[in-house]
Amino acid sequence: MTSRILVPWALPESGREVLKKSKLRVTYLHGPAGELPTLEELVQSVKEADVVLPRGTQSVPREVLAANPALRGVANHGVGYDSIDVRSATELGIPVTNTPEILTETTADLAWALLMATARKIPQTHNFIVSGRFTAPVGHPFMGMDIGPGGSNRPKVLGIIGFGRIGRAVMRRSKGFRMKVIAYDPPLREMIEKTKGVEYRELHELLEESDFVTIHCPLTKETHHLIGRSELELLKPTAVLINASRGPVVDEAALVSVLKEKRIFGAGLDVYEKEPQLAPGLVDLENVVLLPHIGSLTQDTRNQMAIVAAKNAVAMAKKKKPRNLVNPEILNRREYLQKVSG
Ligand code: DGY
Repeated sequence: MTSRILVPWALPESGREVLKKSKLRVTYLHGPAGELPTLEELVQSVKEADVVLPRGTQSVPREVLAANPALRGVANHGVGYDSIDVRSATELGIPVTNTPEILTETTADLAWALLMATARKIPQTHNFIVSGRFTAPVGHPFMGMDIGPGGSNRPKVLGIIGFGRIGRAVMRRSKGFRMKVIAYDPPLREMIEKTKGVEYRELHELLEESDFVTIHCPLTKETHHLIGRSELELLKPTAVLINASRGPVVDEAALVSVLKEKRIFGAGLDVYEKEPQLAPGLVDLENVVLLPHIGSLTQDTRNQMAIVAAKNAVAMAKKKKPRNLVNPEILNRREYLQKVSG
């Protein structure tokens, strides 16, 4: 019997093509409008699968992984893999892959779009026009923050939290704005110190000094609520906070109260603590720009991500070593070797 790949969401056509060409059996499990299966449905269907290909942020807890002792791969369609219980996967001998690099530039573009939209109140002014209120010159309510040096000719400070691929791509884009760039990322401190055009800062220093703070770190035990009430209080009253990484890095309830109190200029968010739910009060604020987790959502990038995730799924279904393993320690584990031998 050929291997079976379970795709519990509406994978783009480019990925479906790869799976079709592999001649493996593929099961798609989602509603007519792309609705995701319930946890129970996922647990039931995974029992028949050799490999699962979830969409980024689709939850794959231990319950799913342990439902099938023969499961030999999870091919995530996304770079972040905090939605997958990787520790359990490793224990159970299941390799997990992601789609790094492909979405770096697209996500950095989006972070910049969010930064500019928040600083210049673009959605607020757009809404003002389309609601027919543009009857006289506008002023104070739409007063923005300079991204470039502005009238005072003072270069603005961009603080980057998380200096991985996306953080560095965000920095490259800052050149045209003549910004001073500072970064915080303890595991990458040495790399930051050796990189031209960026200076290392401790977190509290970065928060105090930045005009714009943009978050690009993965969600881990260490980064959960890295930005809470006391960190938010360190920001300048003119500061803009951008989060296009993972929602739980910021304490969303604390952010809502800081924004309500107008302690900072604004925040631009693409991610939330409990997606798709938002913290109470967030949508009522006028100093936020909110996007529905679209960091990598462009045709080109999503098509390429689908191809890579599908290739990883096919490799694991065929008991081959996939590219983009996030738990390479698996390769020496008895549980894994048993699954791929024979
Ligand atoms: C990613 O790839 O991690 C994006 O956030 C989409 O899930």
